[in-house]
Amino acid sequence: MSKLFTPATIRNLELKNRIVMPPMCMYSAPDGVPADWHFTHYATRAVGGTGLIIVEATGVAPEGRISDADLGLWTDGQSEALVALVAQIHANGARAGIQLNHAGRKSEVTGATIEAPEARAYDEKSRVPVAMTIADIQNTVKEFQRAAERAHRAGFDVIEIHAAHGYLLNQFLSPLTNGRTDAYGGSPQNRARFLGETLEAIGSVWPAEKPIFVRVTAEEYAEGGNLPDDLAEQLNGVKESGNGIDAVDVSTGGLMPIAPKVFPGYQLPHARIIREKTGLPVIGGGLITTPEEAEAALAEGNADFVFLGRELLRNPYWPLAAAAALGDEIAWPKQYERARPRKK
Ligand SMILES: Cc1cc2nc3c(=O)[nH]c(=O)nc-3n(C[C@H](O)[C@H](O)[C@H](O)COP(=O)(O)O)c2cc1C
Repeated sequence: MSKLFTPATIRNLELKNRIVMPPMCMYSAPDGVPADWHFTHYATRAVGGTGLIIVEATGVAPEGRISDADLGLWTDGQSEALVALVAQIHANGARAGIQLNHAGRKSEVTGATIEAPEARAYDEKSRVPVAMTIADIQNTVKEFQRAAERAHRAGFDVIEIHAAHGYLLNQFLSPLTNGRTDAYGGSPQNRARFLGETLEAIGSVWPAEKPIFVRVTAEEYAEGGNLPDDLAEQLNGVKESGNGIDAVDVSTGGLMPIAPKVFPGYQLPHARIIREKTGLPVIGGGLITTPEEAEAALAEGNADFVFLGRELLRNPYWPLAAAAALGDEIAWPKQYERARPRKK
């Protein structure tokens, strides 16, 4: 059995393999509820053999969405609408996570006041956010908490807190976007306080048997910005908060409008450092397209799980083909049995 198809257990969650579909916004959810598109899109990846599907960035508040068409979890109706989506993912053999997000200064929603650690715009085309007061921070922590409760009611197996890609929690974590002088700014520990309080609040409503992941930007590609060691230090400071952190989904970039050099596995070195310095399981990747690259990421100790984003958009059946390529016998959907590649 390859490492990629070796099952794993995180808390009470059993995953049939190490393949993770990372959250990917579909910008197709007016009113924050899933559309027909979402059912087709996520169910197809479940049919294709992905072990864990993390549903796209989902706003914890209307002004916390990236766009007007993000999924949302700020109403009970949105939670009820997600029940059927989770059920479809489960019925097709995958586990379901959801990424909870507040976009902060990167929100492009129309008509809302946007918020951030300080009143500085992302770029010259972006609106200038309002600097959050302590009460705003406390309110947003509660919004994450209520969204987590609703995610549980919708049946999700995993919550992933979005603290990457320059959205609100990343804005707090970074010295480049957090110039606050109160308890939420300054030292690395202070900048991680918002994340710690979010973990605490979610831990009080999210069942202890279900895992909580955090997605981080482990390198900001800008002078003076966070590097993997900095993130590891911040994660170490908060990893016991609430129910703790069960896995770190390691990404990079997005804080500043800067495009890094990319190549297959470009975020794996970051994942490895976070794994070694925090002792937490990590999900790593970045431009992974072949079964051999995914297997090597695990075999070389860079990651415990591998995410494939764009490759799963191109090919939802990638896991079924990867198993054949790695010589593993895995269950196929019975409807597709006759298409299973035959051994030569
Ligand atoms: C269409 C699209 C939407 C994305 N939306 C999100 C998102 O909602 N949350 C997130 O953390 N990352 C998002 N990402 C980043 C992916 O999760 C992933 O980290 C990135 O694509 C790199 O992995 P890959 O090279 O395997 O595609 C998105 C990427 C794409 C292509």
